[in-house]
Amino acid sequence: MASCIDGLYERLVNKEDNLALVGLGYVGMPIAVAFAKKINVIGFDFNEKKIGLYQNGIDPTNEVGDEAVRESSVKFTADPAALKDARFIIVAVPTPVNDDHTPDLSPVEGAAKFVGENIQKGTVVVFESTVYPGVTEETCIPIIEKYSGLKCGTDWKIGYSPERINPGDKVHRLNTIKKIVSGMDEETLDVVAKTYELVVDAGVHRASSIQVAEAAKVIENSQRDINIAFMNELSIIFHKMNIDTKEVLEAAGTKWNFLNFRPGLVGGHCIGIDPYYLTYRAEQFGYHSQIILSGRRINDDMGKYCAESLVKLMIRNDIQVNHARVAILGFTFKENCPDTRNTKVMDIVKELREYGIEPMVVDPQGDAAEAKRLYGINFCDMDKVKDMDAVLMAVKHSEFESFTPKDISKFYRADRKTKVFADIKGVYNREDFPAPAWDYWRL
Ligand SMILES: NC(=O)c1ccc[n+]([C@@H]2O[C@H](COP(=O)([O-])OP(=O)(O)OC[C@H]3O[C@@H](n4cnc5c(N)ncnc54)[C@H](O)[C@@H]3O)[C@@H](O)[C@H]2O)c1
Repeated sequence: MASCIDGLYERLVNKEDNLALVGLGYVGMPIAVAFAKKINVIGFDFNEKKIGLYQNGIDPTNEVGDEAVRESSVKFTADPAALKDARFIIVAVPTPVNDDHTPDLSPVEGAAKFVGENIQKGTVVVFESTVYPGVTEETCIPIIEKYSGLKCGTDWKIGYSPERINPGDKVHRLNTIKKIVSGMDEETLDVVAKTYELVVDAGVHRASSIQVAEAAKVIENSQRDINIAFMNELSIIFHKMNIDTKEVLEAAGTKWNFLNFRPGLVGGHCIGIDPYYLTYRAEQFGYHSQIILSGRRINDDMGKYCAESLVKLMIRNDIQVNHARVAILGFTFKENCPDTRNTKVMDIVKELREYGIEPMVVDPQGDAAEAKRLYGINFCDMDKVKDMDAVLMAVKHSEFESFTPKDISKFYRADRKTKVFADIKGVYNREDFPAPAWDYWRL
């Protein structure tokens, strides 16, 4: 019996059928642009403002760049009915958590509804959003079936392919990262694999099932989270012992199998979020996570720890804490990217406020409108950073990395005998900030 997706790959390549994206953010946009170099692509996002920007050749995510958006043949639209013209639909919508850290699947469910209302027979739907094992088959299939009246397996097929891109990373790109692909059956897996091979030069890994692919993605980020939590715990321990953690890690790192991780703030919408998806699912199976949730707790407390450490430094240098002038350099959740969502630098701001400090926040790369909307934070211009009592460098943006100790010294009040400087990411050498002119601190 002929399958509903017979010849689909060939029709995509011959541009007789279209591929569509649902969700054009940090993940969806690079995929849309990459596929548009090979086949016909429809780019759908329900955010009309974002679609307007793309149509005007502006890339707010900075992932592909304005020029690539302008030159791309992607048909941008905010109308979900455009999905009717697609036979290969990739869904890349957010997967955040609720305030209680449980998964918020509403964007995925909303996207599945749009797909269900518009899907035609003979379509392959691939979810890329990071989810716990089971979401694609147990949550997405029933929604699409309900709104389409079409049966998964006979009328349309489903697959899952997690995204591994790393925003701001210009080395590891969509085409250079091996991609995990999966499908509900051999035939779907084959179409999904061959389609992604059109844009992923590094090739694909064919996972044995959709759940294996879903699980692989959440554990990749959980593993990073746990490793960073271990570094953060070491940093807390070594501070008590007055030992420099970075120097310890450099020494230990000379062993061939010592893993290269550093302490730091874990924000954003992947590493700090995805582990909760896995632990939530584990709870449903009656298992309460021991390691993953401990790591989460440590990482979630690091902003508070950094702020408290800065305040201690100020006190021991006789700086009046209440109303002190403190500059925070960098607000995004990671370096060289505009994204401020779930940034842990906000935890530092909140904790400093508890001590009566309203810090000045500077971020030349951060999305100022987003910072204002999400946190009520107004970024200051770099040239306003002067007469400071203390400075905290939170994010390793390239603009900040080029600062010399002399540049940084200009940020302080002229009468400050000892300059308090917290270098969260350990960008600098300790020797460049010698006592008594400096009181230098890093994680
Ligand atoms: N950003 C990353 O670094 C990264 C890396 C790997 C995986 N992921 C995962 O990929 C997924 C997408 O992340 P992102 O960073 O691209 O998110 P994003 O917020 O940048 O983009 C998602 C887009 O989806 C749109 N959207 C939301 N609901 C929609 C709906 N119902 N219909 C149509 N459009 C809708 C939003 O308007 C937004 O433009 C998440 O599951 C995330 O965990 C992200």
